[in-house]
Amino acid sequence: MIPTWVALAYLAAAICFILALKGLSSPRTARRGNLIGVVGAAVALVVVFFEGDLDHLVPILVAIGVGTVAGVVAARQVQMTQMPQLVALFNGVGGGAAALVAMLELHELAPLGDRAEGFALAATAFTIVIGSISFSGSLVTFAKLQELITTRPVIFRGLPIAFGGSLLVAVALAVLVVVEPAIGWGILLALLGLAIGVLLVLPVGGADVPIVISLLNAFTGLSVAAGGYVLDNTLLLVAGTLVGASGTFLTKLMATAMGRSLLNTLFGALKGGSTLGASVMSDRPVRSAGPQDVAILLGYAQRVIIVPGYGLAVAQAQHTLRELVDLLSSRGVDVDYAIHPVAGRMPGHMNVLLAEAQVPYEQLKEMDDINGEFKQADVVLVVGANDVVNPAARSTPGAPIYGMPILHADHAKQVVFMKRSMRPGFAGIENELLFDPKTSLLFGDAKDSMSKLLNAVKAL
Ligand code: TAP
Repeated sequence: MIPTWVALAYLAAAICFILALKGLSSPRTARRGNLIGVVGAAVALVVVFFEGDLDHLVPILVAIGVGTVAGVVAARQVQMTQMPQLVALFNGVGGGAAALVAMLELHELAPLGDRAEGFALAATAFTIVIGSISFSGSLVTFAKLQELITTRPVIFRGLPIAFGGSLLVAVALAVLVVVEPAIGWGILLALLGLAIGVLLVLPVGGADVPIVISLLNAFTGLSVAAGGYVLDNTLLLVAGTLVGASGTFLTKLMATAMGRSLLNTLFGALKGGSTLGASVMSDRPVRSAGPQDVAILLGYAQRVIIVPGYGLAVAQAQHTLRELVDLLSSRGVDVDYAIHPVAGRMPGHMNVLLAEAQVPYEQLKEMDDINGEFKQADVVLVVGANDVVNPAARSTPGAPIYGMPILHADHAKQVVFMKRSMRPGFAGIENELLFDPKTSLLFGDAKDSMSKLLNAVKAL
């Protein structure tokens, strides 16, 4: 039995985690939600520290020190655009830690032989294999997003057999852990889990990697929850279940936003269809415009819609963009931002970016709310976005983004793209809208172009 004060502290921490998740569901409350989560985690750490029988105090303190320094340095130095990689890494070490803890538990349970509880052994086996999959899978997603390895789907002959066979052997090993508990089975299971993680993520194309990060996040949550059962720790059970459930929901939401099923995301490449395009740089003629031309277009417009994308984040042009929008609004132009759910490189990327520039939430319109309004827009200003307005998603079966709901920028009277070159977006495919007669391109880094455009609008 755990002391009452510990049970109450765990309850308080669990409530903090639930409130944190609630807070994180809206940009307006996300910062507060994050802080509440931090408080919950701190309470959990302190309680375990004072309640547990700590045998190895020095290595524990050293590990906490190393983990704290690594976490703080990584979180402070990471660019906003590299956040998915960091999340993948943090998630992977969480799964790896759960697997290691479960192996230590197996080491203690194994000598009990028949007296060890079967369900606890099953939960141990589950934690080892799922935690290991999450660890190695997350490392591969990190390597893909950091472009340490190719972002294209990696497939080879025999991959489906290797993957399916590994799953079957993993199930057999898990059964052995339960009926004949021995640490050797646990080690084999962990090694197999590592292999399954790699085989699971290799065939996924770069554009789909964030969905897989979210799936692996759910895996880590489930392995931590099972670890909570093994260790008889209610808080781990609750926290793991929360991560597992929210990760599963996020995976589903992202897959829907990209117009894909989860199975297609994971195994689509095995059917021969690449999930990443050819990355061609087109030399077809386009209409380019200078800042003054675009300023005149905006100056005469009554309804303007801004489509922000990944390039806005790269250029860090959000503050200048807000100044431009404020100026246009003060002159009576009706301006909104159209937010695509997967614009940028992580969920909520554009919301975070624009919130940082103090853009009022009322001006941010979700895709479904604004799509009907593009027809009335005099000008759509696409700032560093590409795939999220690419009509190929509607018209070209076989295109990597086919089926993804897009912003209907092509329905507007005039479209202006701000980008540096004719390079494609993340999916690596050409965007027909760039060549449409009503489209103009303002070439250059978005921050530089935006400053020039702002000055030109001021001078009108
Ligand atoms: P993209 O399609 O990647 O297009 C970004 C555009 O920004 C490119 O055309 C690029 O052209 C331009 N750009 C880059 N740096 C720039 C700079 N400094 N100044 C001006 N332009 C710049 O972005 P998107 O429309 O936001 O679509 C997001 C894509 O990422 C989708 O395919 C989505 O599936 C995928 N994805 C999303 C997520 C999430 S969860 N948000 C995660 C991973 C992947 P130039 O190089 O010519 O400048």
